[in-house]
Amino acid sequence: MNTQYSNSLQAVKTLASLKPIRSISNLLKEEDRLERFALSTSGLYLDLSRTPVNRDDWSSLLALARSADLERKRDAMFEGQVMNPTEGRRVWHSLLRASAPPSKEVNGRQEISSEAAEAFKEVQETLQRMRTFCEQFHKEGKITDIVHVGIGGSYLGPELIYQALRKQTQTATDGKALQVHFVANVDPYAWDRLASNLDPSTTLVILASKSWTTPETTLNSQTLRQWFEKSGLSSEEISKHWVAVTAKPELAQKTGVHSEQIFPFADWVGGRFSVWSAIGLPIMLACGTKAFDDLLAGARAMDEHFRDAPLERNAPVMMALLCLWHQLHLGSQSEAVIPYSQRLARLPAFLQQLQMESNGKRVDLKGHPIQLPSAPVVWGEPGTDSQHSFFQALHHSPQAQAIDFVLVREHLGDPRSLFLQANALAQIEALSLGHPSDDPHRHYPGNRPCLVIVLERLDAKCLGALLALYEHKTAALGWILNINSFDQFGVELGKGIAKQFEPLLQNTELTLPESLNRSTQSLVQKLRI
Ligand code: F6P
Repeated sequence: MNTQYSNSLQAVKTLASLKPIRSISNLLKEEDRLERFALSTSGLYLDLSRTPVNRDDWSSLLALARSADLERKRDAMFEGQVMNPTEGRRVWHSLLRASAPPSKEVNGRQEISSEAAEAFKEVQETLQRMRTFCEQFHKEGKITDIVHVGIGGSYLGPELIYQALRKQTQTATDGKALQVHFVANVDPYAWDRLASNLDPSTTLVILASKSWTTPETTLNSQTLRQWFEKSGLSSEEISKHWVAVTAKPELAQKTGVHSEQIFPFADWVGGRFSVWSAIGLPIMLACGTKAFDDLLAGARAMDEHFRDAPLERNAPVMMALLCLWHQLHLGSQSEAVIPYSQRLARLPAFLQQLQMESNGKRVDLKGHPIQLPSAPVVWGEPGTDSQHSFFQALHHSPQAQAIDFVLVREHLGDPRSLFLQANALAQIEALSLGHPSDDPHRHYPGNRPCLVIVLERLDAKCLGALLALYEHKTAALGWILNINSFDQFGVELGKGIAKQFEPLLQNTELTLPESLNRSTQSLVQKLRI
């Protein structure tokens, strides 16, 4: 990156190192604080004012975003340029939810490139095939249960959205709500716990795997195939209960999935960014084509905000800058995501993969070790449960952690909703402002950064906007850090080592290789049966 970037980065680091730590309660007294740090977009209200950032800090952070050429990189992403350089791929996730192919200015005229037209056409064709399949599925009406088999990005988005929207699920034949079950882990329990309650003749299996080579999904699909075969269904009948969603349709076909039951997506779709693609099929089947279209529309609204809003009023950019600042100024190593809605219980897990698999990197685009903290640890549980587990640490640990509060405007007629919302507000106040006490055991330092996101409603549109908000926050942080947010080579080593342990565990007669250290040899012996 250029000198301007290095200078901006140094300026931010210098300011972040200045003590004392900025006081959130004092900063909240600034006349225009709320105007500068709160905004509404795409069905969301964001209040980012409770953060230890003063005017100089904020100006230097915005200067860093500009010097990182963030706006050009953002526009390049929307245009479909290669922004995943280590894998030579586009990161055109906005195209999955676009209502038209993106155009770009050429000699003063807006033009649609042939790549954009072609890619958009492919996305729309698959979407149309999904809708037709969904209509046929509900017309036949014989499926009562869907088993979605996939891991990581191939199930986290569908599981989160299905659980959030399931009040809107379609009914199956018997009038009961269609059930979607997710099988991700290779632990036999993940499927076995379901098998006895399901009937193959009324069960649809969706095999979701971008690569079609993930061992967990392969092993689970083999187990389910045997389950079907034991049921006496003919292979022809079984094939009707078997759907594949993948970027490798030719591999899926080789494993016996009929081509009309295969829903493809492009290899530039990242697993953790894939819920908008055919990976989202279970959402469409369970919640309806309108809900899925609304999900895309919500994300599209956030795309437009990210593309058009000035950096200082750009929600994803502001969240990315504050994420970096909390790590530099406070030394925070994590971001807790606390949804005050049980239907968003899987949001922390989704955001964990999205942000940590994207930005948990050690080198920049040139392969040089980065001189900044990269992705914070992302974790969390719904409120108010988390108030009864780890909020003690959030309030009293010497190390302040940043917290994203995600609220939904609920109908307050129910005393339970009232209690839920009142507690969300109380925790935001207590964590950001603290409460002094002469008794050191009861003194609350406060000054914990609390970013607040309020969904107008918990519906597909607001949910789509929320997930796209975090996708763009993730990409913006990567561009500010000058890293590649779109590859994930760090997941390969463990997968490769596992291959050597399977035979050692299976065959207790095998001598353990000397290359294994004594602790590992002892562990293998301990696990051998
Ligand atoms: O191993 C990490 C990962 O590749 C994730 O990025 C991905 O979402 C998951 O595994 C599943 O991969 P696939 O969809 O190819 O089965």
